[in-house]
Amino acid sequence: MKYDEAEKIIRHILTEKKEKGVQEIVDFLYTHFSHYTWVGIYLVKGNMLHLDSWSGKQATEHTKIPIGQGVCGSAAQTGTTEVVDDVHADKRYLACFISTRSEIVVPIKHNNIVIGEIDIDSDTPQAFTKQDVSFLEKIADMLQKHIRNL
Ligand code: SME
Repeated sequence: MKYDEAEKIIRHILTEKKEKGVQEIVDFLYTHFSHYTWVGIYLVKGNMLHLDSWSGKQATEHTKIPIGQGVCGSAAQTGTTEVVDDVHADKRYLACFISTRSEIVVPIKHNNIVIGEIDIDSDTPQAFTKQDVSFLEKIADMLQKHIRNL
């Protein structure tokens, strides 16, 4: 699916749905982008990230991650998007699935404070492009408004 088309559909889903909106977004991203092998949304609670919603073939054991740990915890600490082209070459990486080769983590921010993040794993090495970064950063901004209105 084209990124601009997906952006419009996601905007629509988030205006229509309230509580189920976040789950619908992870399902939509997982279903429509074949390089997205696992899609999750973590929310910040205190000094931890808690897994809120996910879509993919398998559950992860990392349902709670301390801020500062792993690729997820790093992105939450710095507030910047992390693109890991080769997870095996990144010492911070917390393994979830044996098949994962690359990962992107996009913070969800309100007034520059991280309130959550989008975490996507891919079975393809170097799966995430600049297009994925700008697309997912737009989705993160839509999600921040949605989450705060729940
Ligand atoms: N790989 C992540 C942990 C979450 S799983 O990918 C779902 C990390 O290094 O923080």
